[in-house]
This record gives sequence, C-alpha cells and structure tokens, in this order.
Amino acid sequence: MNWRALRVLGQAPSPLTLGEAVLHGLARRPRCIEPKFFYDEHGSRLFDAICDLPEYYLTRTEMDILESCAAEIAQLTGPDCTLIELGSGASRKIRLLLDALRPRHYVGVDISHEFLLKSLQQLARDYPWLEMKALCADFAQEISLPDDLGTANRLVFFPGSTIGNFEPHEALAFLQRVRRLLQQGGALVIGVDLKKEIQLLQAAYNDEQGITARFNLNLLARLRTELAADVDLDGFRHWAFYNPEPGRIEMHLVSRRRQTLRVLDREFEFLPDETIHTENSYKYSVEQFQSLARRAGLRPVRAWLDRAKLFSVHYLRVASAHPLDRTHRLERSWLLNRRRA
Ligand code: AVJ
Repeated sequence: MNWRALRVLGQAPSPLTLGEAVLHGLARRPRCIEPKFFYDEHGSRLFDAICDLPEYYLTRTEMDILESCAAEIAQLTGPDCTLIELGSGASRKIRLLLDALRPRHYVGVDISHEFLLKSLQQLARDYPWLEMKALCADFAQEISLPDDLGTANRLVFFPGSTIGNFEPHEALAFLQRVRRLLQQGGALVIGVDLKKEIQLLQAAYNDEQGITARFNLNLLARLRTELAADVDLDGFRHWAFYNPEPGRIEMHLVSRRRQTLRVLDREFEFLPDETIHTENSYKYSVEQFQSLARRAGLRPVRAWLDRAKLFSVHYLRVASAHPLDRTHRLERSWLLNRRRA
C-alpha cells in the first residue's frame, strides 16, 4: 500500500499522567513507579541501547529463534492471515515474519501515536505489497479492531517478553483479552524469557557499561525536567536482582542517604537504603507459561527455544473446547439434550 495513505486509527485512553502516578506511587509502601514511565524519548533510546548489550541476551536470542522458526509459523498459520502486532514499537521483529507469512493484513498496535505512524510508514515503504493499518491503543486495556478486518485467521504477535512486566494475574487477564481478540481459529506468537541460572539473569540487568542503571535513573531525570522536582540524581543508585520466590527480576532506585524529594508541592522523606520499586520482569519455565496460557483458553501448539534454553517463542491456538466458546456451549447443550432424550 501507499505509505502516504496510512492513517492512525483509534486513540489510546488517556492514562494516569506522570504527575498523578508519581504522587500516588511515592506515597505507597513500598514506594513504586510503574515501568511504563521509563519510555520517554531518552528512555526509549536507552532501551534500544540495552537491546544491543552483550549481557542482555533477550533481544538477539529472540531474533535468532524467530528467524529459524518463521517458516514453521507460516506453515501453522496458513496463507492470508490478519497479523496483529501488540506494542509494535519500532517494528523490527515483525520483519522476520513478513516474507514467510505473506499476511493479507498487518495491524500495528501501539500506545505511542507518533512512534506508530513513523515506524509503520517505514514498514509500508519496505513492504509495498502489504495492506496495513495502524491502531493506537493500550493493550493493557480491552482492544477493539476495526470492523472491516474480518475475523478469519487472525495471528497476534507479542514479542520481547513484555508479558514479564505483568503480575501473573494480569498476564492471565491479558492472555484472555488476546483470546477474545483472536476469535475462532486464531493463534498467538509470543516471546517469553525463561528461568535460568541466577548469575546470567542478574548480569542482564546489571551491565558493565551501566546503561541499565541510566535507564532506571532516567525516571528521576524525568521528574526533574517534567515535574520540576527537586531531586538529586546522585542521591540514588540502580539496584536489580533476581527474586527467586516470585521468579522475577526486580529493579529499584535506592536512596544513598537520608534525603527529601520534593515534587508538585509534596515532600517525600527517604531514609538511607529506602527504595522506589520501578520494575518487575517475570521469568517463566515453558511448562509454567503453557499452563497459564491453557487457563486463558489458549492451547500450546509449539514452543521454540534457543540451544542454551535462554528464551522461548510460543505458538498458541484458541482452544476450541473453552467454556466461553459459543460452539462449545451449543455442543454441550446438544449432548445434554441427547442424554435426556
Ligand atoms: C521490555 C519489559 C521486556 O524486562 O527485560 C530491560 C525491560 N528493563 N532492562 C525486560 C528492561 C531493564 C524489558 N522488557
């Protein structure tokens, strides 16, 4: 399609602003600020740099897996699917699938309007045969697709182990929303980071060059520039560790001393070593993730791993025997009636 014709549909629901979220999160115990606030322009650039770090195995491992399983994904899906990417961002990973899949439609869904338009325009230039749509939406909420897409053969693509940012119950709710989006016959391709040796995990979030530390501390820089906060960036340090009990990497900002953080006419006292919790990144075993998916009505069809078993890419199909299915309900009532007769 002509990239000039590309329009962004929909509008992300206006989320809690940075100011509201910060006042709310800093008043809580433990104090916290949600990870989505990492991604201002500078933060997004720092995250891109993280993806290229030697210690951050996630991105390159997932790209390798996708490259080697693209043909199989295409085979499982069949021709002319409607490919929906959630959190399409820079739309780099989708390129690994497009040539093999040859979808009828591609829908990029992202919360950032600007970023979405720019990256899909570039995609439209590089894949002129592809019909595409850009949809601005927050996939942490219910997503509705444009009516003219049809419901047949939908494939949702959710890479990057972004699902790891959700609490397990939120991850379940998310998978249930994806299942509703897919309807009958649809499938999900999702990247999920795996549980592994603790040193490897911790190194990925404590890189030598200190980029992850800058990414974490950039939150405080945002408070200063966007909310005119009075906060000393050298007064806090980056802390990331693997917490084995919940099975997650935790990132925090740790106060180096007793200090007061002033923001939007409020004061927050910090004791030495008091923390602000900024991110959780849950890690799953293949079995754990598959059982979560089953609970959401998605049936595991295939899981691809790299040789070192660092990362997984799952292919899940809408399970036809899910209690929410109309067909299933009809089948059951038919069976019950027959038994009665
Ligand atoms: C984008 C959420 C998948 O959890 O690994 C990278 C974000 N944080 N380094 C992750 C992140 C610190 C990343 N996700």
